[in-house]
Parts: sequence; C-alpha cells; structure tokens
Amino acid sequence: MSDRVKAFAPASIGNVGCGFDVLGLCLEAPGDEIEAWLTDEPGVKINSITGDDGRLSLEAEKNTAGIAIASFLSVTDQSKGVTFDLHKKMPFGSGLGSSAASAVAGAFVANELFGRPLTRQELIVHALEGEKFASKSAHADNVAPSMMGGFTLARGEEPFDVATIPVPAELRIVLIYPHVEINTSDARGIIPTEVPLKKAIRQWGNVAGLVTGMAKSDFGLIGRSLEDVLIEPHRAKLIPGFEELKAAALDSGALAFSISGSGPTCFALTYNEHLAQAIGTAMGNVMKSKGIDYTLYHSKVNQEGPKILTS
Ligand code: HSE
Repeated sequence: MSDRVKAFAPASIGNVGCGFDVLGLCLEAPGDEIEAWLTDEPGVKINSITGDDGRLSLEAEKNTAGIAIASFLSVTDQSKGVTFDLHKKMPFGSGLGSSAASAVAGAFVANELFGRPLTRQELIVHALEGEKFASKSAHADNVAPSMMGGFTLARGEEPFDVATIPVPAELRIVLIYPHVEINTSDARGIIPTEVPLKKAIRQWGNVAGLVTGMAKSDFGLIGRSLEDVLIEPHRAKLIPGFEELKAAALDSGALAFSISGSGPTCFALTYNEHLAQAIGTAMGNVMKSKGIDYTLYHSKVNQEGPKILTS
C-alpha cells in the first residue's frame, strides 16, 4: 500500500474495423496520467487538471476518472478517500479512447493506493462506469485494451466477459488524427440500429477472420477481414478526406485501414517498419493537400497497458 501513486494509462483503438463495441487494441502512446493520494476524508476529490484547456469539470462526479475511482471505492474500502491530479495528454473527441484512458488511469491508480485488492480484469467494470458517463453508452472496447494491454475482446456485459487475443509481434500501427473533433455520442447517433442479415453475415465473418488472422499471424487474413461494412460507411462522411486517406494507406502497402473508435483518427496496419513510415507520409500528404492540420502516431501493440510512473 502506498500513500501516493502516479500512473499512466494508454490510448486505444476501439472497434478495430469490424468489431464494433467489442474489439480493441492498446497503443503505446499517447495516454493520460494521474497522480493520486489517500486522504482521511472519505470520497473522491480532484485537486487539479492540466492539458484540458479548462474543458473538464473539477467535480469528481462529472469526471471519468473520478467516477471510476468512486466506483472502485464502493466495492473496496470506503474509510479513506482519494484526491488526484489529472494530466490530460491526449486530444478530446479524437477516437483514441481519451475518456477511457482517464477512467482506466483512475481505477488503476486507486487499486495501487489500496494495495491492489482487485485484478486488472476486475477493474474494468469500474473504469467502464466512467466511460458510460463520457460517451452515454457502456461499451468496453476502449477500456478493456487500455486496462489489459494487447488486443482484446469485450464479449458482453452479463456476465462481463473479456479475453485477450494474441497478435503477431511484427504488427505496426500508423494512426492519423485530423484535427477535427467528433463527439462519440453524435457519431453513435448516425448509425442505423438495424442491419440487413447479409451484411451482418459479412461482418461476423470478418470479426472471426480478424481474430483468427491475429492469433495465427496470418497477415493475408488480417488484411481481408479488417473490413467494416456496417459502421464505417456512415461515419466516413464525418472524416475529412477519409476515402483519400484510405486509398493512400492501401496504395502504400497497408494491410488494412479503418476508423479508430468513432473517429476522426484513422489507423492502418502493417508488419514492416519501412512500410509504416511510407504509409504515414502518404496519409500526411493527403491532409496537407487539403490544408487540414493533423498528428501522426506510430505504435506497436502495447502489451503492458497502464503502468506506474512513481510511487
Ligand atoms: N465503440 C465505440 C464507438 C468506440 O465506435 O462508438 C468509441 O467510444
């Protein structure tokens, strides 16, 4: 048990193309940091928030990390309280799982402060409480990879079921974040709530293909399966230059390309560092030609998930 802990929780790719609300991939960076300490007064308090341009409330019950910590305390030790500093180190509304990263950092750091009474898997439901507040929906496709690391399946909530799927060690992820903001609840509002059986069959074939391809390091199968016929066609319209970005990535040798979470960040997969650089350059050139500011991220799959920075 430690009186003060600082921790980092990583960004993640929700959906991973075809796995809407169930598949997720943990990234090395960016991510959020929380420094928290125990107090004699029960309850959760936020001492400060940096990196949010004043957009987040200092009321713990309106903050994804604060809600996650309160949920953790409700099942563990309520005799003490937790106060924390939140350092937002990733953009809002980017599709990189920003709200999930804060919630994961909160639940993770609280667990460390109390001597690790819960497993990472058990912490997910508490982080999910924070995610629910931020995106008005209880999907765990960002919280699960951010907490567990790796490539995850959040199969369902009742019972809550999370599994980690092996990925090829060579896998490289190139992400491009066009500097426009997309609110997850808005991006969920434009998706049809019913799907034709024919498309559903294609989609679940793709999910099974992607999981199998990852587990067997079958890059051809990964490339063919990472196709989203249900959600991407609707959300692509919200992302400036989406079709050009996709063409640029695939023409540069990417195995696959899709939207990260609810966008606007898009990601491409490859197994080769040299190709990763070429894909990033090609996608950046699309944004430059349109005069849109952007950020590129290069990552391997982060197998570690959240980590302690100091304690
Ligand atoms: N699965 C979620 C979505 C991820 O696509 O709406 C974003 O929170």
